[in-house]
Amino acid sequence: MPPNVLTLESTAQSALDILPEFQRKCGKLKATPSSMLPSEILCFMGACRQAGIEKIVESGRSYGYSTECLALMGFDIISYDYNPDPNTDARLFRYNNLVMKKAPCPVVVSAAPKFGLLLDGPKGVDALSIVDQSNPTVVGIHDMAPKNPARIRVDQMQWVTTDRLNPCEELDREHLLSRGLQRSVLEESFVLAIAQFIH
Ligand SMILES: C[S@@+](CC[C@H](N)C(=O)[O-])C[C@H]1O[C@@H](n2cnc3c(N)ncnc32)[C@H](O)[C@@H]1O
Repeated sequence: MPPNVLTLESTAQSALDILPEFQRKCGKLKATPSSMLPSEILCFMGACRQAGIEKIVESGRSYGYSTECLALMGFDIISYDYNPDPNTDARLFRYNNLVMKKAPCPVVVSAAPKFGLLLDGPKGVDALSIVDQSNPTVVGIHDMAPKNPARIRVDQMQWVTTDRLNPCEELDREHLLSRGLQRSVLEESFVLAIAQFIH
């Protein structure tokens, strides 16, 4: 895997750059109990925009929060889920920039000329194995909290992790409060690990 070129500062800045557009287009969407946090998908999309990426391959759609944010922000998406929610897929069907697959994430993901890869199922070492065999320009892997064993590897590779970043903590407040959670939950779960590679 090539070295990561993102820094905490550049990732925070690219998230802040797209924050007004994110609030305008995605502000009404509700994160769900199983979804990524708003600040996490914001950071991923900021990094993708910064890298000039238009195409995203996502795995792990579930109730569609991350997928719909990507669609509303205008990315061209292929989304895999081997056990998708039928009602969600019916709701998302209206986006003509989204192709939904009911299938496992491929072991090797490829899209030309450059693409972002967002993995929220599979997770951990399985997600890292897909990144090892694929050639994304930007990658995000969810649920890389400090207690996740795979976190050691992303820390060694100096990926950016959103628990160290948090440019837009306010965005997550409503979501965490509605679930009776505090930010200390980020020790146990959540946390997006992000990297950008120059191939
Ligand atoms: C946490 S949910 C995804 C939440 C979504 N990204 C969001 O922000 O709303 C995880 C999903 O990943 C799917 N999943 C898990 N492993 C998978 C795999 N190897 N390939 C495709 N989908 C997978 C599960 O079926 C589940 O729907």
